[in-house]
Amino acid sequence: MKVLVLGSGGREHAFAWKIAQSSKLEKLFVAPGNAGTEELAENVNINPNDFEKVKTFVLENGINMVIVGPEDPLVNGIHDFFLNDENLKHIAVIGPEKAAAQMEGSKDFAKDFMARHKIPTAQYKSITSENLEEGYQFLESLKAPYVLKADGLAAGKGVLIIEDLNEAKNSLEEMIGGMFGSASATVVIEEFLSGIELSVFVLTDGESYKVLAEAKDYKRIGEGDTGLNTGGMGAISPVHFANEEFMSKVEERIIKPTIDGFQKDKTPFVGFVFIGLMKVGNDPFVIEYNVRMGDPETEVVLPRIKSDFLELMVSVADKKLDQFELELDNRTVSTVMLVSDGYPEAYAKGKTITGIDQVSDSIVFHAGTTGKNNEVVTNGGRVIAVSSYGDNLENALTKSFSNAEKIQFEGKYYRKDIGFDLK
Ligand code: AMP
Ligand code: GLY
Repeated sequence: MKVLVLGSGGREHAFAWKIAQSSKLEKLFVAPGNAGTEELAENVNINPNDFEKVKTFVLENGINMVIVGPEDPLVNGIHDFFLNDENLKHIAVIGPEKAAAQMEGSKDFAKDFMARHKIPTAQYKSITSENLEEGYQFLESLKAPYVLKADGLAAGKGVLIIEDLNEAKNSLEEMIGGMFGSASATVVIEEFLSGIELSVFVLTDGESYKVLAEAKDYKRIGEGDTGLNTGGMGAISPVHFANEEFMSKVEERIIKPTIDGFQKDKTPFVGFVFIGLMKVGNDPFVIEYNVRMGDPETEVVLPRIKSDFLELMVSVADKKLDQFELELDNRTVSTVMLVSDGYPEAYAKGKTITGIDQVSDSIVFHAGTTGKNNEVVTNGGRVIAVSSYGDNLENALTKSFSNAEKIQFEGKYYRKDIGFDLK
């Protein structure tokens, strides 16, 4: 098979790493990719949101399958673009159509979906400039802290959690006024859920599904979960508190009604459902849906899949996932993200990376890297994810941390406490 992966982060390097091991692979391309994918595949300088360029490339190179990494091409309708084109419609696209991608593209849509399909989540109200007064009243009816979410995609930054009621009212007005551009013209106000977070990754062909694994990521920049939110500073899988009893609640109350919901709503979903959960007491509540794999969660979830990944993707495309025997690795996998000083705010690029060849017993997934004059240099805030297997969490993390030390670039920073709350 000839496969095109869209995206350029650690998630896409992990996809490429897993696909490159498949006996079904004839040729792998990644657009635009990074210095890590370059070693396993041919990088193609195409923006995944430029559908016409993707089309030309796919047709000229006889691509059989497109695996979409990030959310924006999905929310922009890349799958629909393929289905609506006579020359492309037979090519498999892994990722939902635009209607279902709204689960990530609009928080209001996702909340409405959960209400319609009776999926447990925080109470909420959607507010625009038209019903601002109702927003104030709803805030008054809630207890602090107050959760305000931009409806649309805001690069992971659109959620504010505020202690003071008046401040929350002001922020609501500012959000609607354009704090996150048009993404916050509608704001979802939510009840605050107190508990511990985890994410569950589900693969579906639109009819049946497989739970890939659960993972926990560490979103804050600072140790002890402090400071600004990032795309994710590290992750681990499995998560010990997600025991059989809890996961069966997740399956019955959340996963099944979600997959059924897509069918009932006639919004086809082929691909990865990323369910962000809060465990409140012993019960799961949905915090958010994403319509793709997480990053850096992919860097711990994919290493736990033993099965041939392309065979798995083909079973999804052919709607035969129910017949697929998914084999998972029971070991723990941890990943530690090395980032550029300053991230998630301004940071420098183009810093030479050394020491990758010194790493042993970990997998180095490139995130923001590129090749320049035969060197690998930094090209993003999140630079490299160091993933390791272990018989237990401690053991996996020891390897990730010791290899994280060996990789050098100016301004390297990483959290030395990934997994701290689970030990
Ligand atoms: P989201 O972008 O929806 O994942 O929200 C970002 C982060 O805000 C989540 O990972 C949670 O830590 C937090 N959060 C979102 N919604 C709630 C809520 N209703 N209660 C408590 N924390 C929340
Ligand atoms: N790590 C969180 C995400 O991928 O959205």
